[in-house]
Amino acid sequence: MAVVAVTKETRGGETRVAATPETVKKLTAAGFSVVVEAGAGSAASYPDADYEAAGAKLAKTAKDAITGADILFKVRAPEASEIAALKSGAIVAAALNPHQDKDTLTALAKAGASAIAMEFIPRITRAQVMDMLSSQANLAGYRAVIEGAEAYGKALPMMMTAAGTIAAAKVFIMGVGVAGLQAIATARRLGAVVTATDVRPATKEQVESLGAKFLAVEDDEFKNAQTAGGYAKEMSKEYKAKQAELVSAHIAKQDIVITTALIPGRPAPKLVSAEQVASMRPGSILVDLAIEQGGNVVGAKLNETVVTANGVKILGAANLPGRIATDASALYARNLFALSGLFLNKEGAFAPDFEDEILKAALVTQGGEIVHPSLKTA
Ligand code: NAI
Repeated sequence: MAVVAVTKETRGGETRVAATPETVKKLTAAGFSVVVEAGAGSAASYPDADYEAAGAKLAKTAKDAITGADILFKVRAPEASEIAALKSGAIVAAALNPHQDKDTLTALAKAGASAIAMEFIPRITRAQVMDMLSSQANLAGYRAVIEGAEAYGKALPMMMTAAGTIAAAKVFIMGVGVAGLQAIATARRLGAVVTATDVRPATKEQVESLGAKFLAVEDDEFKNAQTAGGYAKEMSKEYKAKQAELVSAHIAKQDIVITTALIPGRPAPKLVSAEQVASMRPGSILVDLAIEQGGNVVGAKLNETVVTANGVKILGAANLPGRIATDASALYARNLFALSGLFLNKEGAFAPDFEDEILKAALVTQGGEIVHPSLKTA
């Protein structure tokens, strides 16, 4: 029986966990034996007793959980001490941040691990259920609006009261992927007047279907900005200049701006300049969801709220899914449970097929080496 280990996240501020009692039950029913480090789920409100009741064995330490395990499930990359405890050939599945965190990749390769970067799960229909970028970005988009609304000193919906009318807040979403779409939906539910921009033409209809207004430079470059994988390309300097000009007048009138723009494997594009921030009214809010990839807003700082000279707040909190840890863990754990199905053959025996197109696309180290083509040359 293959053993799945789940350990407590050690990275600062990481509140999520890679398995929940629900997925432990499912993994056990599928024939896995699950070992969970004590306290692994506590920051996400999943107590040890619930894991035990679901069929997991509790281990006192991460090392105890990992020793002898065939599979290690984590939210973030394992630490050096965890990698040291892996048996050769063990599968590790986590958000490995493979383009940035080369040291961990090298260590995983050295340990002989078959490491799966959850960020590399391909965007094909069969893999949607395993797509952690989507499951987490959706919650991040929701949470970004909540954070923005909390920092904003006014209401979002229009309110007509005996003491007079409060105007609806104007919310502008820059980058309309999974996070941006959920941010639009959430801001609309809260009653804001919402506009949005993106460089991929497919987003125009999505924005409008959510009741928001679309704003973008719709030239030839825009028409070709989407890659076959569904992601955005890095736009030219000229396009970005045109885009900046178009949104400048708009940003000055916004109450809350939420930026979510990312380009896989690259630093986040700078979409809001210091001048544009300075053009906003005092009390306006920017929430930079791309901060961990360098940020979309000039002046945003990782894990800080910057208050500018003109009284605008730029929120740069990392890991917004971690602020909704119970749900974020539940969805991510289901992503991993779905992935675990690829480790079993038709008879239900543990026999991972690394030639399967999903595993092949996401496998970053194996047999002592870094094997992913995008990482070998970089
Ligand atoms: P992402 O997180 O990589 O980027 C967020 C957004 O930023 C994207 O919409 C991107 O176009 C936008 N962006 C990049 N540069 C920009 C710029 N200069 N200005 C404005 N916006 C900019 O993207 P995410 O959320 O991962 O989704 C990308 C698309 O993939 C989504 O539209 C989604 O529909 C699709 N998708 C498909 C799946 C499938 O299995 N078929 C699963 C999940 C997402």
